[in-house]
Amino acid sequence: MCGIVGYVGEQAGLEVVVEGLRRLEYRGYDSAGVAVLDGGRLQVERRAGKLANLEKALAERSLPGTLAIGHTRWATHGPPTDRNAHPHLDAAGAVAVVHNGTIENFEVLVDRLERDGVVMQSDTDTEVVAHLVARAYDGDLAAAVRAVCRELEGSFVLVLAHRDEPDLVVAARRNLPLVIGLGDGENFVGSDVTAFIAHTREARVVEQDQVVEVRRGGVTVTDLDGAVVEGETYHVDWDTDAAEKGGYEFFMLKEIEEQPQAVRDTLGGRLTPEGLVHLDELSMSDEDLRGIEQVFVIACGSSYHSGLIGKYAVERWCRLPVQVEMASEFRYRDPVLGRNTLVIAISQSGETADTLEAVRHARSQRAWVLAVTNTLGSTISRESDAALYTRAGPEVAVASTKAVIAQITAMYLVGLYLSGIRGTRDADEVRAHLRDLQEIPDLIAELLTRMEPVRALAREIADEPRVLFLGRHVGYPIALEGALKLKELAYVSAEGYPAGEIKHGPIALVDQGTPVVVIATRHALQAKLLNNVQEVRARGARTIVLATDGDESAVAHADVLLRIPDTKSLLAPLLTIVPLQVLSAEVARARGLDVDQPRNLAKSVTVE
Ligand code: F6R
Repeated sequence: MCGIVGYVGEQAGLEVVVEGLRRLEYRGYDSAGVAVLDGGRLQVERRAGKLANLEKALAERSLPGTLAIGHTRWATHGPPTDRNAHPHLDAAGAVAVVHNGTIENFEVLVDRLERDGVVMQSDTDTEVVAHLVARAYDGDLAAAVRAVCRELEGSFVLVLAHRDEPDLVVAARRNLPLVIGLGDGENFVGSDVTAFIAHTREARVVEQDQVVEVRRGGVTVTDLDGAVVEGETYHVDWDTDAAEKGGYEFFMLKEIEEQPQAVRDTLGGRLTPEGLVHLDELSMSDEDLRGIEQVFVIACGSSYHSGLIGKYAVERWCRLPVQVEMASEFRYRDPVLGRNTLVIAISQSGETADTLEAVRHARSQRAWVLAVTNTLGSTISRESDAALYTRAGPEVAVASTKAVIAQITAMYLVGLYLSGIRGTRDADEVRAHLRDLQEIPDLIAELLTRMEPVRALAREIADEPRVLFLGRHVGYPIALEGALKLKELAYVSAEGYPAGEIKHGPIALVDQGTPVVVIATRHALQAKLLNNVQEVRARGARTIVLATDGDESAVAHADVLLRIPDTKSLLAPLLTIVPLQVLSAEVARARGLDVDQPRNLAKSVTVE
């Protein structure tokens, strides 16, 4: 949430920073701004709305200088207006700051500043930092930032410049992500590596309560007391191509197409020559794994749906009770956890505040915490006992697609691995499931060639005010995911239900012509599901049925029939999810909406 970037080097700072903001815009797009230091003057431009508004304003100005900071905002304190856009300056224009996060004691700090005669220029919590740092400044920006950070409560990543320090950008972090990009004669900081991936692939993660001094010639990291701390650098194993649209109109459409590879990469290197799973990353002994008596999965949004699908697999294969919880609720009901509990935290970004807090709670209760995340070095992965990385590559569209498919794949791997260790499935069965799993990438690729009817359907239903999604068993979480995608992308009121439940209320929503999408691929409950389809059809619903290739039983119940390649029923979500992603993107497109950046949302939700 909020993307920030800082640069000092030899290039035009404005260009480097705006390019970084373009890649970070998925983190928030309520407003954007930059500050460039030139000849002892901090020049600022900021605009409400998407980055394009800022770029338009910048086209009419010249902002030379080789040191710059930038910000793209997801509003928390104060509406998304020009005056609340970052960067913020102190009264003298000496300090410029951009900020991601929330400063919880800002009201106390504002009171103090106002008593001292400071007149606040915005409604943000961020502005206090500019005033406080300006007051604390005594010729050493990093020292001033350290002093102010000690006073701040809450979560923040701050990036600052001072007009008297032409070779210095200072950044600090607490609870939120910050990464350093190490170049040659130039250095960077950003919310994630996409901020500087066009310039360097050498990176270092900034840890909790550290302050970074970024200069042309090098980077120094200290703790809040000023002691220098060493850290490891790492090489980013993907490049700008992965973070660009590559000819697609929207990132989401590209990311949908990348799903076969996301599954392949998540499986890659995790299968043994004997055809079994090894997950060294779990870093738990076999004895500890055998001692697990219950599993909790905690996650939000689409990641929560991946967890629901994983539950069916883990319970079936491992005979372990699995509870899937929305992370935002988990810790507040005081769940019963202990050393016999495995908590799996699923998060694409690895930064979601609700999930992070749930992880912290679980660890405080001595549960084992395994992070399933797509983001190397993310806070959730670092604060968990172990991390299993999904290898979907960078996901830029706000709506999650390839990361979700990789999460589901990872959950299947966890289930099969645990079942082997715990002896609940024999090696032959595990091998057979893995063979089926390895076929999935080709099946997704084939399915993706059949999307024309889905696109046509999207154009037909684009003006419908309401759509229902029904499924049973593993089809139920897919119904939830299909509904979530349609809601968030196309702003259509969509509901996902277990098909057996609709007669207890939701069927009242069905009217003449109401589109009802049914996930009816072959599984044990299919006959019952088709009865439920008849019930809605008898009440006028227009049924859109996803059915397995060659399965004729669903044909009579479908107004629109969408075919899905055959696979084992437990693995079917990896296929049925695909047309629903395409449907929601295409409905959004038909409604003239921005598929990658739906209103009010941000990709990485770092507020509770
Ligand atoms: C929906 C979507 C969100 C995320 C949720 C969790 O398309 O993208 O619902 O799944 O915000 O995010 P992560 O996985 O980063 O914790």
